This record gives sequence, structure tokens and C-alpha cells, in this order.
Amino acid sequence: MSPLDIPRRLLERLGAADSVVVFTGAGMSAESGVPTFRGAEGIWSRFKPEELATMSAFLRNPQLVWDWYAHRRTIIATVQPNEGHRAVADLEHLVPRVAVITQNIDNLHRRAGSTVVHELHGNIERNYCVKCGAPHEMGSERASPEVPRCAMCGGLVRPDVVWFGELLPEEDWEAAVRAASGADVCISVGTSGVVYPAASIPAIARKAGALHADVNPEPGPLSEAADVFIKGLAGAVLPVLVQHLEKLRSRPDIAVPGEGR
Ligand code: APR
Repeated sequence: MSPLDIPRRLLERLGAADSVVVFTGAGMSAESGVPTFRGAEGIWSRFKPEELATMSAFLRNPQLVWDWYAHRRTIIATVQPNEGHRAVADLEHLVPRVAVITQNIDNLHRRAGSTVVHELHGNIERNYCVKCGAPHEMGSERASPEVPRCAMCGGLVRPDVVWFGELLPEEDWEAAVRAASGADVCISVGTSGVVYPAASIPAIARKAGALHADVNPEPGPLSEAADVFIKGLAGAVLPVLVQHLEKLRSRPDIAVPGEGR
């Protein structure tokens, strides 16, 4: 199967779909220049998550953790959504209900134009006080390297992202489970599918009868469980998928293109 052939059963289901969920991970933003976590070049092959992405690490050394997220904020501020993000946003014009369920904290889906985005691991552009929970708007101190203090209570301010061992934001999680349970198609893109409970989203969708397609240059646990696996990069595969769907939706009388099966 050439990398850009889209399996017919996926196109058929998408062509008739009322609701689609797109479940994404770091690989979705790799082509934008945001590093992924695992794999040879991954962040966790260079840094220890227990030193940078836990509450105890933050309390032990707030400046180190703050600097780390400031570094990531700088990278994210300099990159743009890629063709993959834009294709996902375009899906909203082709399918009545589309929900993006992302593990990414980089806000790139919204910047690409997706309007329904459930952020399971938070968003690096938000911060809050660890003591009183008050949201903290980054003002002038954005330039200062110091860990900001809460204007209300003087407590330490942390990024609004989910660290290891922490619960997912309840509202986003519940909305994600609702969307997955009502989906006709679930497309997982650019995730190793090893971090739970987020990685259970495709299984929730499959259990509710959705067709699950996994897009990744490397096979993994999600591609094994999926009904369809498309081996390729998000920025290459998703635009082609949307092009096929556009044709299909504009000319429902034409035969469905793509690979048999
Ligand atoms: N297109 C599609 N997939 C890609 C691309 C690409 N251009 N480049 C890499 N990938 C795939 C890799 O093969 C890998 O399977 O993306 C996946 C990235 O996996 P991880 O780095 O493990 O990222 P993710 O699954 O999002 O991690 C989950 O772990 O560290 C925590 O909180 C962090 O949200 C993150 C969670």
C-alpha cells in the first residue's frame, strides 16, 4: 500500500459519518518543530520526567521546572501549525461533528482553526497558583526568568499542564469520553499510545462502534488495536484524507477511491 492510499473502508465510514474524533499526540506537532517525548530524539531520552514534570520536582526546584517550561513556551511561540493541523481543522467543514482530543499542550490545533478541542494534558499558555488555584495571567514578568508569584496569595505559579501522577482536567476528560462514545470514526494521530488514561480514548470509541484508524510512521499499540493503520506522517496523510473526503462529499455518486479492504 503506497503511503498516500487511504483505505476504502475508512473513506466509506468518513463519507457517511456524522461524528468524528481526532485523538492526537506529540507526533501531530513534530513537523511544526515541536519535539516528541519518546523515541531516539525524544525529550524523555534527554531529560528525566521525574525531575521536570511532577509536582514534587516543582516543589523541590521550582526554578528548574519553570525554566524548562519557559524553554518549551519559547519553542511553541516560534512554530506554526502544519498541514496536518490544518487538515484536521478542515474536517469541520466536511463532517457535522468533529472533536479534537489532544494530549498536546501546544495550542496548535486551535491556532490552525479547530473549534472543538479537548485538552487532556492542559495548555502551556495558561498558568495558575499552586496555593489558591487562581489563574495567573503572564504580564510583564513574561520576560523575567523568575518563577512568578500569585497576585492573590503570593503562592508559586505553575504551568496549567498535567504532570505525571496528576489527574486529568475533569471537564475536558468527560467531554472527550462523551465525544469518543458518540463517534462514527476515531482517527488517532502521532501518539505512542502508552500514557493512560488518555490512551484509552480510541478503545472507548471502538467499544461504541466507531471505526478506528491510526496514523503514525511507526507501528505501535494503537496501530495493532486499530481497524486501519496508515503508516505515514500526519502532515502527509491527513491532507490527502481530507482531499478524498471533499471529493466524496461533493460527489456522493462517484465510487469511493482508495485501497480495497
Ligand atoms: N506524524 C505522525 N506521527 C509521528 C510523527 C509525524 N510527523 N513523528 C513522530 N510520530 C509518532 C511517533 O512514531 C510516536 O509514536 O508520534 C508518536 C509520539 O509519541 P510520544 O513522543 O510518546 O508522544 P505522546 O504519545 O503524545 O506522549 C503522550 O506523554 O510525556 C507525556 O504528557 C506527555 O502528552 C504526552 C504523553
